[in-house]
Amino acid sequence: MAKKVSPSVLEAEGQQLYLPGPAEIIRLEQVSEKEKLLELKLQDGRELGHQPGQFVEISVYGIGECPISVSSSPTKKGSFELVIRKAGNVTTALHNLKPGDQVGVRGPFGRGFDTEFLKGKDLVFIGGGIGMVPLRSLVNFVLDNRNDYGKVDILYGCKEPSELIFPEERELWNTLKTVNYRVTVDRCSPEDGWRGNTGVITTLIPDLELDPEKTYAVIVGPPIMYKFVLKSLKEKNLPDDHIIVSLERRMKCGVGKCGHCQIGDKYVCQDGPVFNYREIKEMYEEGI
Ligand SMILES: Cc1cc2nc3c(=O)[nH]c(=O)nc-3n(C[C@H](O)[C@H](O)[C@H](O)COP(=O)(O)OP(=O)(O)OC[C@H]3O[C@@H](n4cnc5c(N)ncnc54)[C@H](O)[C@@H]3O)c2cc1C
Ligand code: FES
Repeated sequence: MAKKVSPSVLEAEGQQLYLPGPAEIIRLEQVSEKEKLLELKLQDGRELGHQPGQFVEISVYGIGECPISVSSSPTKKGSFELVIRKAGNVTTALHNLKPGDQVGVRGPFGRGFDTEFLKGKDLVFIGGGIGMVPLRSLVNFVLDNRNDYGKVDILYGCKEPSELIFPEERELWNTLKTVNYRVTVDRCSPEDGWRGNTGVITTLIPDLELDPEKTYAVIVGPPIMYKFVLKSLKEKNLPDDHIIVSLERRMKCGVGKCGHCQIGDKYVCQDGPVFNYREIKEMYEEGI
C-alpha cells in the first residue's frame, strides 16, 4: 500500500486539510442515468497531487460536503475528474451545478493504491458498478505507464447495460492488445441491444489465466460483490496478500478526527480506503 501521508505533511505541502479551497467546474457531463462526471480545476493553479484510489471532500457552498473518489489518473494534468451518483442533498446539489460554478475541495485524502509496489506485477482489475470510478484512476495510470507493469486483465460488471460508464475508455480497452478486457451485465432486455456477456462479475473469473505468484487483484465494488469475488479468486489460488480492496464507509471529516468511518481499529479515511485484504480479513469475516 502507498505510504500514509500525515496531516502535518499535507499542511506543509499546502494541501487543503480542514479548509476547502476553491475549484472551478470546467466540464459537467451526464454519463448515465444517475451519474454525472465533473471536471474540476483548482483555482490556485496547483495540481491536485493525488494517488489513484484517494478521495477528496467536495463541498457545495451553503449545502454541505461529501467524500468522492478521484476518477482521473494523476497522469492527467491541469484538471481532475469526479463521477458523482445522485444520492442525497450534496450530490443532488452537485448535479445541479453548471460549468463555471465554484465548489470547495479538501484533500486529497486517504491511502491510495501503491503504484510503485505494483510495478512488474500482473494485475487483475475487478470493478463492479460505481466501483469503476476510483478503479479507473489506477487503470489509466497503469496504461499510461504500461511498460512498468505485467499482464493486465480488466473485468467490469454492472447490473444493466445502461449503467456502464466510460464508453471511450471501454472502447480503447477493447482494442488494446496489451490488455484483456471483459465486461458483463447481470441482466438485459432485448431493447438494450446487448451482445456481450450476461451474468454476475464472478462468471468472468474462471477463464482468467493467472499466475498466483505474480498476480495482484484489485477489487472495487459494492460490498456484496467482495464476498463472491474473494471466493472465486481463492479458487484461483490467489494468496490473501495479493488481493487489494477499496472500502467505502460513511465519512465526515476525512482526516481521522471524527470517528465516523471507524471499523475495528482502523479509520477508513486514513488507514484506507485502500487495504490489502490480509490486513482486514479478520474484520471482514466478522462482517464489517
Ligand atoms: C471514500 C469514499 C469515496 C466515495 N466516492 C464516491 C464517488 O466517487 N462517487 C459517488 O457518487 N459517491 C462516492 N461516495 C459516496 C458519497 O460520498 C455519498 O453518496 C454522499 O456522501 C452522499 O451525500 P448526500 O449528501 O448527497 O446524501 P445524503 O443526503 O447524506 O444521503 C442520501 C442517501 O445516501 C446514503 N448515503 C450517504 N452517504 C453514504 C455512503 N458513504 N455510503 C452509502 N450510503 C450513503 C444515505 O444513507 C441516504 O440514504 C464515496 C464515499 C466514500 C466514503
Ligand atoms: S471520516 Fe472522520 S475519522 Fe474518518
